[in-house]
Amino acid sequence: MKEVYDEGQLFNFLLDRVREIVQEPSDTNGKLLAICKLLMNNVPHYDWVGFYFADRSKRELVLGPFVGDPTEHVRIPFGKGICGQTAERKATFIVQDISKETNYLSCSPKVQSEIVVPILKNGEIVGELDIDSHTLSPFKEEDRKFLENVCEIVSKLF
Ligand code: SME
Repeated sequence: MKEVYDEGQLFNFLLDRVREIVQEPSDTNGKLLAICKLLMNNVPHYDWVGFYFADRSKRELVLGPFVGDPTEHVRIPFGKGICGQTAERKATFIVQDISKETNYLSCSPKVQSEIVVPILKNGEIVGELDIDSHTLSPFKEEDRKFLENVCEIVSKLF
């Protein structure tokens, strides 16, 4: 791994890797899993990283590639939990303290905070990037920008 001196440099380096992974000649799920591993292994406050695919005809999110503890939430109706609310809002949703969020689907008691970024194509929700953290209030504006960039890059795979 290249030496990285601050979080901005780390995020720029990771974005370059995401662009490379998207170009690789593997299948979509393999690329998305590689991106999950990249984020999980390099950002200390990311403790579960996964993609959901949107099934717009059923108004449901379907779990795709992920790394971290297994989750029972393999299908999430639009509107339910942080992921389902993000599908309806079509905007990044940050919850710095999940104990304060009433519309929340728990994956693990270790989780303290969550960020969900929509993946949009022609203004429609096609998927989401979901990240859980075991730290309270870990997400900064840099995380939002970084993860929105990741979703913009991966949107071409959807
Ligand atoms: N916590 C999410 C459910 C998905 S898990 O975090 C993997 C939610 O409230 O939508």
